Amino acid sequence: MRNDIKEILLSEEQIAEITAALGKKLTEDYAGKDVLLVSILKGAVVFMADIMRHIDLKCDVDFMVVSSYGSGVKTSGNVKIIKDIDIPLEGKDVIIIEDILDSGLTLNYIINMLKERNPNSIEICTLLDKPSGRQSEVQAKYIGVQIPDAFVVGYGLDYDEKYRNLPFVGVLHPDVYTK
Ligand code: IMP
Ligand code: MG
Repeated sequence: MRNDIKEILLSEEQIAEITAALGKKLTEDYAGKDVLLVSILKGAVVFMADIMRHIDLKCDVDFMVVSSYGSGVKTSGNVKIIKDIDIPLEGKDVIIIEDILDSGLTLNYIINMLKERNPNSIEICTLLDKPSGRQSEVQAKYIGVQIPDAFVVGYGLDYDEKYRNLPFVGVLHPDVYTK
């Protein structure tokens, strides 16, 4: 599996530092609020598991499962909700915990949907931001790191459902696509 990785973009140590710093910032910014952490499976599961333990607040945690139609690598923005949030959002301060913000089409759809349920606020916390791919006006208030326009895997992120279990974020070797 590791032979398929061309370059490590974020090491385990770097991820640990980023996750701790973001968790500390969220703890400060959301003190006294009624926080709900939401992540979208499967990609964000590893980041969620790490960052939630750095958020020192009494908060709810929930997950959504969505599928987006379109080609394998790019999102179309046509999102189908497979599993919704179980908790009512009225009065909640929602933080969406995301692995990577690329086109933003998926999150744009989800945020518009969640806004209709009258939460107090909705913000995005993403480990990776790929601004070059943006196709909607979605912005993350909390960003781990901005990355260049490369397809990355590991730490939850997949290519064809593989490599999610790598403990770091790496750039996939182009040979893997063309095989
Ligand atoms: P978008 O922002 O709507 O384009 O979709 C973001 C989702 O696409 C992420 O949650 C990932 O599942 C997937 N994605 C986007 N870029 C990458 C990448 O470089 N590697 C792996 N998955 C990616
Ligand atoms: Mg994916």
